[in-house]
Amino acid sequence: MAPRHFLDIDQLPAKTLRRIIDNAHALKKAGRRTPAKLKPKGIESSVLVMIFEKPSTRTRISFDVAMRQLGGQTIMLNHNDLQLGRGESIQDTAHVVSRYIDAIMIRANSHETLTTLAEHATVPVINGLTDKSHPCQVMADIMTFEEHLGPIAGKTVAWVGDGNNVAVSWMQAAVQFGFAIRVATPAEFKPEKSVCDWVRRNGGDLTLTTDAGKAVAGAHCVVTDTWVSMGQSDAARRKKLLKPYAVDDALMKRADKNAIFMHCLPAYRGLEVTASVIDGKQSVVIDEAENRLHAQKAVLAWCLGVD
Ligand code: CP
Ligand code: NVA
Repeated sequence: MAPRHFLDIDQLPAKTLRRIIDNAHALKKAGRRTPAKLKPKGIESSVLVMIFEKPSTRTRISFDVAMRQLGGQTIMLNHNDLQLGRGESIQDTAHVVSRYIDAIMIRANSHETLTTLAEHATVPVINGLTDKSHPCQVMADIMTFEEHLGPIAGKTVAWVGDGNNVAVSWMQAAVQFGFAIRVATPAEFKPEKSVCDWVRRNGGDLTLTTDAGKAVAGAHCVVTDTWVSMGQSDAARRKKLLKPYAVDDALMKRADKNAIFMHCLPAYRGLEVTASVIDGKQSVVIDEAENRLHAQKAVLAWCLGVD
């Protein structure tokens, strides 16, 4: 049987994604001691290996704790700890690692590393962020939205800033969970055309604009992210071009009166968001961070066999 990879939000049926979110709510309610019925069979002898090519606080800790709370074990590695860092192929790494462990989570510089790993691994591979997407983050974000505002289907989410990896996963989620997505970016930092095309081909309600105010008007959720993602080098140019996209109180006032503010973190106060917004009463950023744990428990449970 093909392994249950969790690579991207556009790669799985909407029904499966919905079940993962529902299970995440159940796992959160259950707390640290996961009840047997929510645990994958044989989890006690299962090991998750985590490979990091980039830094991480939330992904690193929440996956580790998630696996332990499910009853399994973890191995955490920076890619330079592996022969991968000295040029061993991803293919050979995938074949070998699959003989020892039960699932692989990777944070990769290049999306191609993730897909090559998944192509050759015989165990589930999970995307812990690449240059192209960050699906685990957005699963936690959907969960957080629904905790605060109820079902996300039919609602409107505004993405403001860089059309980056997190934006891509939000756009894919808009199709799968049935909400409208408005994306405001400078023309230079629009999300990739192939992603926009996929969203539209699949009936997604997508607005692309360079006007932050237009994107945010009446939205139920305003989301942003750092202007300089890991691995990007043109920081000064980015900060200059993205300056009009800072989320401040005036912009938040244009959203729905009950709107929430989201940011995957790490955040840079005074750049993409003011302290008054991210530390204010509409901000749910710490809930998002917590929900990484619960959503990833549900992702791991699905990858390892819970339906
Ligand atoms: N949001 C997120 O993925 O954070 P880390 O980079 O700390 O894992
Ligand atoms: N877009 C950011 C997300 C960090 C979690 C990055 O890739 O650096």
